Amino acid sequence: TQPGAPLCAANISIDKTPMPKEKLQPTKLVFGHTFTDHMVQIPWNDTDGWLPPMILPYQNLSLDPATCVFHYAFECFEGMKAYKDSNGKIRLFRPDKNMDRMSKTAARICLPTFDHDELIKIIGELVKLDSDWIPSERGYSLYLRPTLIGTQASLGVGPPKSALLYVIMSPVGPYYPTGFKAVRLEATDYAIRAWPKGVGDRKLGANYAPGILPQRMAASRGFQQNLWLFGDEGYVTEVGTMNAFFVFQLPNGKFELVTAPLDGTILEGVTRDSILALARERFDEDKWIISERKFTIQEVADHARAGTLVEAFGSGTAAVVSPIKEISWRDKPIYVPLQPGKETGRVAEQMAQWIAEIQYGEVEHPWSVLLN
Ligand code: COI
Repeated sequence: TQPGAPLCAANISIDKTPMPKEKLQPTKLVFGHTFTDHMVQIPWNDTDGWLPPMILPYQNLSLDPATCVFHYAFECFEGMKAYKDSNGKIRLFRPDKNMDRMSKTAARICLPTFDHDELIKIIGELVKLDSDWIPSERGYSLYLRPTLIGTQASLGVGPPKSALLYVIMSPVGPYYPTGFKAVRLEATDYAIRAWPKGVGDRKLGANYAPGILPQRMAASRGFQQNLWLFGDEGYVTEVGTMNAFFVFQLPNGKFELVTAPLDGTILEGVTRDSILALARERFDEDKWIISERKFTIQEVADHARAGTLVEAFGSGTAAVVSPIKEISWRDKPIYVPLQPGKETGRVAEQMAQWIAEIQYGEVEHPWSVLLN
């Protein structure tokens, strides 16, 4: 338990901007470049606890250069999305999962935890205030970025005595600059993203910067992202911006939908969890095996050679469901089949459809949380 006041949505204050910004056409949006008119700021300190939440005009932060976030990476964040349905109602997708993960991540780096329902209410107020910013076209949404930083200005290495939780929002379309197209990955084993008992399963900003150099190297060879491998065995883990799924045809004629297990080397994706749950609930049990297990890049290559690699795709809040068409491993391509004339396989297409139906409120589902 933490000293001081708990987070409380009822104490919120709202200061509206006198100068609303102009909005871009959705098709002009570049992921994460445009921000809405307002933000949430909630300061915390270790004597008072959580101070009253504020909705303010989107603005710069002013921080002492000694602030611990800049030196020791006391920072964690979440990625979640708000959608507008055809009746103009606003929906969040499984916000409880993001709150859960953010608390676990915060606790891991000694930042304060918070009441999940209260933060969802506060985020809800922000989304409602800036609801004109939510694109309603399929494939477009409002990306929400709750962020928590240590703000103590001190070079001593220790648990921050003060922190700031803030939330900014950005209208978005597809994550990859190539649009809604299948991606090419490079399997990477010369660098490691995460390891068991490390923090690769926590949503720390510090997990992302070290992935950029390998990503740039992959990009120089024409690949969008790295497929991170682990260990001498070459276990497939994740992509860094998304979890990875494969479909294999097995010798007994059944199909296996497989993704890496939550063993500390992958992020606990909300979309990953949703895909597994939908597959377990809706796929024909006589034909499908749904697996969270370790598998190697060699196994993927063997399936490709045998003609039993059926499909591959990534999943993430930003990436949604992103079909994969090629993986380069040790300079040799592993080609992944797509449906004729399409940039996606069948399972990715089905999953993207099922998840979008829920997110855009075309079917009622407990994962879609109504805000108004
Ligand atoms: C997300 O999918 O929300 C992510 O956080 C991935 C990336 C944009 C950092």
